Amino acid sequence: MVGAADIERAVAILARGGLVAFPTETVYGLGADAENPDAVRRIFAAKGRPAGHPVIVHMAEAAWLARYASRVPPAAEILAARFWPGPLTLIVPRAARVPLEVTGGQETVGLRVPDHPVARALLAAFGRGLAAPSANRFGRLSPTRPEHVRAELGVAVDLVLDGGACRVGVESTIVDLSGKRPALLRPGRIGAAELEAALGAPVPLATAPTQRAPGTLASHYAPATPLRIAPPERLLAEVADEIGRGRRVAVLSRAPAPAGLAASWAAAPPDPEAYARALYATLRELDALGCDAIIVEEPPTGDAWLAVRDRLTRGAHPA
Ligand code: TXA
Ligand code: MG
Repeated sequence: MVGAADIERAVAILARGGLVAFPTETVYGLGADAENPDAVRRIFAAKGRPAGHPVIVHMAEAAWLARYASRVPPAAEILAARFWPGPLTLIVPRAARVPLEVTGGQETVGLRVPDHPVARALLAAFGRGLAAPSANRFGRLSPTRPEHVRAELGVAVDLVLDGGACRVGVESTIVDLSGKRPALLRPGRIGAAELEAALGAPVPLATAPTQRAPGTLASHYAPATPLRIAPPERLLAEVADEIGRGRRVAVLSRAPAPAGLAASWAAAPPDPEAYARALYATLRELDALGCDAIIVEEPPTGDAWLAVRDRLTRGAHPA
């Protein structure tokens, strides 16, 4: 899929301040040289993302922490050793070489080492951090396949590295280590229980959504079609009600489609990891049908479903 020549081309584009979309294990990122403020500004323009929203710096290895953090908290050392490369972003005090364009004007920076061979090859060849948000238009669903990036960003991105479908499917877990105590800013594949076991300390979910983390704003990760969540026992009644009112409905449910129902039905995998992997691609497909509504059967509760529930809840919020 991606060869040495592609990596070489990508590095040349990044070195002259261009944008390269690349696969990670979570979702595709829209990358620019993290140490070049003009290149980072181009990310915001391509996404239609308001300035002042911080982006994550991707690194080839944990040793780069010392390059991009002014101080490495002991908890960061522990979590990096345990979970990197992997779907975990750590918020730490920013080093002076991280431009304020990356951090949204803040004195902290989000850092992570992605676990994807293409991302790692690119980072190692470039030799510097890549500032990269998810490679989608602001507020929309994150891309989990290269064709999602091309469809959404088109010519605004200089190159899309094709790494196939992303393995995790939802964005990284974000842990804030810049304060006195760790806080979970965004749930992901790595759950609070795993983080707490590694740290031997509680990692509570930060409650107040802040401007500091747009991925934690209420309306985010949204398809264009209005999406709502229905408890399993009410799903069929709500779908029937919509159909009865002459509306076209798309459904995402872990149950198979009942016979004879006049709705577009996508069957979601029963386990949380496979559900997360398929989630955004499936929502994109349902969105493309142009129905009047997407109704998603509420997933189970529990730690393993937290990331999926979080993204669905934000996708359901009225824009
Ligand atoms: O899995 C991921 O994290 C993907 C892949 C590409 O790595 N990236 C991603 O980036 O989801 P983005 O920009 O769509 O979301 C990054 C989140 C945002 O909610 C942002 O506000 C938060 O990280 N963030 C970044 N730096 C921060 C900081 N200094 N303080 C608080 N939140 C920060
Ligand atoms: Mg995003």
